Amino acid sequence: MARPVALPQVVRTRADLRDALAEARRPVGLVTTMGALHEGHASLIRMAHADNATVLVTIFVNPRQFNERSDFEAYPRDEAADVRVCGAAGATMVFIPPVEEVYPDGFQTSVRVGALTEPLEGASRPGHFEGVTTVVAILLTLAGAERAYFGQKDAQQLLVIRRMAADLGISTDIVACPIVREPDGLALSSRNVRLTPQQRAAAPVLRRALSAARARYDAGDRDAEILRATMQVTLAAEPLAAPEYVSCADPATLRELDRLTGPALLSMAVRFGAVRLIDNEPLS
Ligand code: PAF
Repeated sequence: MARPVALPQVVRTRADLRDALAEARRPVGLVTTMGALHEGHASLIRMAHADNATVLVTIFVNPRQFNERSDFEAYPRDEAADVRVCGAAGATMVFIPPVEEVYPDGFQTSVRVGALTEPLEGASRPGHFEGVTTVVAILLTLAGAERAYFGQKDAQQLLVIRRMAADLGISTDIVACPIVREPDGLALSSRNVRLTPQQRAAAPVLRRALSAARARYDAGDRDAEILRATMQVTLAAEPLAAPEYVSCADPATLRELDRLTGPALLSMAVRFGAVRLIDNEPLS
């Protein structure tokens, strides 16, 4: 018979989180999420569990980082299932605050990172990164963890959070974790459940487009425009895919490259109807 999963302690207020952390064994590993947990999140929690005595997961659908109210409202939510995923992956405690615990009455602070937030996701989603960095700064401060784990699928987010932590003197070590994919190459995302069966069948085109550009790079192509065009051509062959951007950029500054003389980051955002997917491939 399968062993029952030990459910983690659930806390909902800043005060209860502080009390729970005061008793917690160190080091603490933090995994911040917006819920709708999937195998990608579980892999972050398992990595945190392997490195730390205590694993704190936060579940908070952050209204400040959504550009469209409808996207915020449609964001999938299932607290009971999420807590089970946390327990099975090794979380010790889960912080599930209501909005007023994250943004208390009278809240008027925001954290904005500069040039790194302007291209790519920042250009497509004005204000998005300010919402992310504000909430992550709050969660890093409340958790005071030794390490925090973020997925490489959101490559720009990871870069921006690292910059913010360094700039603000937040001592939590920001750990990058590999992208988890379905067998057909689609990167795991909480938004995948909103794809229709036809869109789901079309969505691995992101991975194919990245792989096609990587194949040219591996064959010696160093012209960034050719790599971008290779991704565009692959995406154009899929009628359900509406690309928002494709990029071949410097992985440290995210500025578009002309020629590759060192590492680069291939990335893209593609819409399938109302669902927007992102993916990337580092080249080195
Ligand atoms: O990557 C996410 O799920 C969110 O942007 C994060 C980091 C939890 C902030 O709300």
